[in-house]
Amino acid sequence: MSATEGAGEEATLARRAREAWEAKAAFWDGMMGEGNEFQRLLVGPAAERLLGIEPGETVLDVACGNGVFSRRLASLGASVVATDFSEAFIGLARARTERAGLADRAEYRVVDATDEEEMLALGESRFDAAVCNMALMDLPAIEPLLGTLRWLLKPGKGRFVFTVQHPAFNSNGVRLCLEEEDRDGSLVETYAVKVTGYLDLPPGVGAGAPGEPAPHPYFHRPLGELFGACFEAGFVIDGLEEPSFSEPEGEAGPRRALSWQNFRGIPPVLAARARPPRR
Ligand SMILES: C[S@@+](CC[C@H](N)C(=O)[O-])C[C@H]1O[C@@H](n2cnc3c(N)ncnc32)[C@H](O)[C@@H]1O
Repeated sequence: MSATEGAGEEATLARRAREAWEAKAAFWDGMMGEGNEFQRLLVGPAAERLLGIEPGETVLDVACGNGVFSRRLASLGASVVATDFSEAFIGLARARTERAGLADRAEYRVVDATDEEEMLALGESRFDAAVCNMALMDLPAIEPLLGTLRWLLKPGKGRFVFTVQHPAFNSNGVRLCLEEEDRDGSLVETYAVKVTGYLDLPPGVGAGAPGEPAPHPYFHRPLGELFGACFEAGFVIDGLEEPSFSEPEGEAGPRRALSWQNFRGIPPVLAARARPPRR
């Protein structure tokens, strides 16, 4: 494929992404509510530890979805500006935030995270911290976001925390496996992740969380590319977590055999903290 054809295909996928997220915002809101297991046990706690929010700080939540983490930040005493490119998501997030009595602490805006002008209009040097949960792998390009965060964060004290589907273990390039063996008369089950693509995984559509009504495009990046983009934009990574499910945390009850909750010790999520360059 030529570079022009590649760019054209990415633009088509970017358009499809917005249509897909608009179409499934209501389903997602019902599934996520105020936090599904992924959010409550993996994403939220890791992001919260890395952010270390102090009351009174101003925090930007990029690609906020139904605002589940925005409300958590608000309840920790932060003043939150939360953005998403989906009008449907922003409407749902606002409604939930009003019902939670946190409307005075969280402002929602429709903003495309890949649009530098829209992002910069949020306010130069306005934010003590920024977060982007489980969305960088949904963006066709992350360089514009990293470039604008340098200016949106307050000089000297800002930090950007992101969580993504773990590029090595939870992408379009892996197959989740369950094997059963008869080991000396006992049936033993082993969960494994088989990696079929990593370094040059092309953009492609994926089903998302189980039950999502429509697939959406993914732009998974290997670790070198993900962190490389941060380094290229002048950020320093000084915090990293790889949260995974563990026995006592998962909720009881029937699950799909290949649910991530059964893959103990293999992290489906990667969380990192990036410090912006001095300016
Ligand atoms: C997997 S959801 C995560 C939502 C939320 N951060 C959470 O953790 O629950 C991905 C979100 O990214 C948003 N999104 C995808 N591409 C975007 C873009 N270019 N600009 C802004 N939001 C985007 C989608 O609308 C969706 O709300």
